[in-house]
Amino acid sequence: MKLKDRIALITGAGSGFGRVIALQMAGEGAKIAVNDINPRGIEETLAELKSIGAQGLGLTADVSKVDQVQEMFRTLKSTWGGIDILVNNAGFGAFPSWSDYSDKANTAFIKGTEELATLGKVQESMKITSHLKDEYWHVMIDVHLNGTFYCTREALKIMEEQRKGKIINMASICGMRGCPGAPSYSAAKAGIIGFTKSVALEVIPSNIIVNAVAPGYVDTPLLDTLTPEVKELIRMQKPIGRLGTPEEIASAVVYLATDEADFFVGQVISPNGGMVM
Ligand SMILES: NC(=O)c1ccc[n+]([C@@H]2O[C@H](COP(=O)([O-])OP(=O)(O)OC[C@H]3O[C@@H](n4cnc5c(N)ncnc54)[C@H](O)[C@@H]3O)[C@@H](O)[C@H]2O)c1
Repeated sequence: MKLKDRIALITGAGSGFGRVIALQMAGEGAKIAVNDINPRGIEETLAELKSIGAQGLGLTADVSKVDQVQEMFRTLKSTWGGIDILVNNAGFGAFPSWSDYSDKANTAFIKGTEELATLGKVQESMKITSHLKDEYWHVMIDVHLNGTFYCTREALKIMEEQRKGKIINMASICGMRGCPGAPSYSAAKAGIIGFTKSVALEVIPSNIIVNAVAPGYVDTPLLDTLTPEVKELIRMQKPIGRLGTPEEIASAVVYLATDEADFFVGQVISPNGGMVM
């Protein structure tokens, strides 16, 4: 067991990657603090942890709210005494209520792909950024980038005392190459990559190791606002010919959490099926 008795806090662990990371880390012997904004997701993940005989602690909190994050860390510290691994994973692509944004992005993506195939060139801008609502921009940055900062800040207070810890931040290929029609998501994920590298350099003298994982497209509930046609077009852009699985992303995260990966510092590992190299 490569993570025996380590305490891991995984944000957004009520679904998708976070849940699978929780189960894989538990399989390596870790105790799992399961954060999510959705209490039902937390209950489901805790039930799965229980079914494999693992220890789990549910921590409902919105990572974009600094007071909720601080309370979550207080509870974690008073319950289990510390934290060895933080996975900043919580996130979303678009809320279901943002249909004005998602419909436009889906339509523009399909139109652009058709024009590329028939005319050899996309004919005009997707006109997403020029009409993006302030609210949509700010919520995206709040959850992904600010949430990663708030959780990292609290974890480091404990890890710097311990002189040991691992932090793994969930980025995306959108933060590496930019995804058209997703300016706020791409900006947030690129920000996470810059944050990862800066903090990695800052804290490595205290034996705290920070890295990022930047996945390509994986079919989780996060992609629910994409139409089946858009998902199929994305699949066709992947050299490997398919979307990824949550297990393929989780195994990269778990590896970075183990001692075997200690020489990885400030790196961005990108399981993406060959879409970005
Ligand atoms: N699915 C993909 O294709 C893909 C690709 C690259 C990166 N990612 C990133 O991976 C991470 C996990 O995504 P997923 O695909 O597993 O999605 P998912 O929707 O299955 O899971 C995300 C979880 O985060 C939780 N969450 C959302 N906002 C939160 C908040 N403010 N506070 C706490 N929890 C919150 C949700 O309730 C949900 O349970 C995200 O950061 C996402 O941006 C996903």
